[in-house]
Amino acid sequence: MKVGILSGGGDAPGINAVIRAVVRKGIRNYGYEIVGIRDGWRGLIEGKLIPLDLEAISGMLPRGGSILGTSRTNPFKNEGGAQKILKNVKENGLDAVVVIGGEDTLGVAYKLYEMGLPCVAVPKTIDNDLAGTDYTFGFNTAVHIATEALDRLHTTAEAHHRVIILEVMGRYTGWIALEAGIAGGADAILIPEKPFDIDEVCGYIKQRQNRGRTFSLIVVAEGAKSKGGEEIVYSRGVDEFGHPRLGGVGYYLGKEIEKCMDIETRVVVLGHLQRGGSPTAFDRVLATRYGIAAIDLVHKGQFGRMVALQRNRIVSVLLKDVIGKRKTVDLTLYEVSKVFFG
Ligand code: F6P
Repeated sequence: MKVGILSGGGDAPGINAVIRAVVRKGIRNYGYEIVGIRDGWRGLIEGKLIPLDLEAISGMLPRGGSILGTSRTNPFKNEGGAQKILKNVKENGLDAVVVIGGEDTLGVAYKLYEMGLPCVAVPKTIDNDLAGTDYTFGFNTAVHIATEALDRLHTTAEAHHRVIILEVMGRYTGWIALEAGIAGGADAILIPEKPFDIDEVCGYIKQRQNRGRTFSLIVVAEGAKSKGGEEIVYSRGVDEFGHPRLGGVGYYLGKEIEKCMDIETRVVVLGHLQRGGSPTAFDRVLATRYGIAAIDLVHKGQFGRMVALQRNRIVSVLLKDVIGKRKTVDLTLYEVSKVFFG
């Protein structure tokens, strides 16, 4: 049996740990041949495959990024892309493909599965917004980095009596903002699920001033928008999956706060620091469990499924049940965070 593996979409710490687990169990337990596919779906369109043996995965566990590379290529937006993929799968003798990805990459996997591609999916995104699983790997690492940033910003905000705004990733959901905000003691957390009112935000800062607290920390997800407003984009245009490039809501907030009250603001955009570097222990373990479960699904011939974490148990769900759905933040957790606003 010959199994291909690819990673698509934005990278997330832990991709290499998944690859390592698939290769290790695939070769040692099942005697499979494993090949890596370069740069997500683009590699299957162009037929760019590399052999993956036990030597290739040595030292991979703590390494961030993806040894295979990744891309946001959408085969259905490239002339004949899907047909080229099915042809290359056949010509290269692939019996199955393990697809590591978020909603876009897995949406493509599902369409290709329907067209005859035997594939299984592994949920990956630092945004943690995939349906069907409690956690995607990479999210824990991103929260950890954002929390550390908040701890650091806390001391400088306090020393200078400023409002510091930390902008974190989270296009459509505020999972990173919410969990890092709770862990880092934010005085307000702004997420896409709950459009904000600038007067309310200033109200929290004033409440703190009334208690003698001359500084505040605000965490905002890049996709957050004001009530009745639009999300703030960094540049025009959209990617092959129709997503705009977000960024800048932190600066918008900083200026608006300075308009409504006499306090200095500073803005930090955490950006890709959240995605780069080594995964946390939690993400290494989760990614390893996912990789093992994915190759087990291949072995059982259970294609069209995604491995998932539910109540700390690894299960698998039908891709068709998760595609097109989005896991928004747990609103009871948001209520917990609100107790600490202002
Ligand atoms: O992968 C999801 C994500 O991390 C989003 O939170 C963010 O908007 C986007 O990727 C950024 O992607 P890029 O690497 O293309 O800048």
